[in-house]
Amino acid sequence: MPYKLSDQKYNRRNFFRLTGSAVLLGGIYLWSKLVGSEKQLLQKRKITVPFNPNREIQFAGEYIIVNNNDEISVFSARCTHLGCLLNQENNGRIICSCHGSVFNENGMPEKGPAIKPLKRLPFHFNSQTNRITIQVRG
Ligand code: FES
Repeated sequence: MPYKLSDQKYNRRNFFRLTGSAVLLGGIYLWSKLVGSEKQLLQKRKITVPFNPNREIQFAGEYIIVNNNDEISVFSARCTHLGCLLNQENNGRIICSCHGSVFNENGMPEKGPAIKPLKRLPFHFNSQTNRITIQVRG
């Protein structure tokens, strides 16, 4: 069978079409995976914890719930100095055991080395279930 130059062009053209299609399909697949993982992240951005109305300061892992005369606030439990996990209180003050920063019930630093307030987080309080749903990010 004779070899035709036009066959080579035809094959090269097909190769680029197939390669382009494969790259396009791969891109669409990766994009759909990214969108899917973004949805999963959005779903994980809320956490629900029980609320104890009898405690002024309640530590819940990465979060601090403050009940200041029935005014509830939620803060990140990461110290704004170097990020230690806050899990101690004394007389209504949140204390960092790493370097001794002290925060008041509004999350404001009263004693350094931390100079920034605790990160306040949005939340929803369900009084029927006594649970707080914290919006972790966003
Ligand atoms: S990390 Fe809290 S005072 Fe340094």
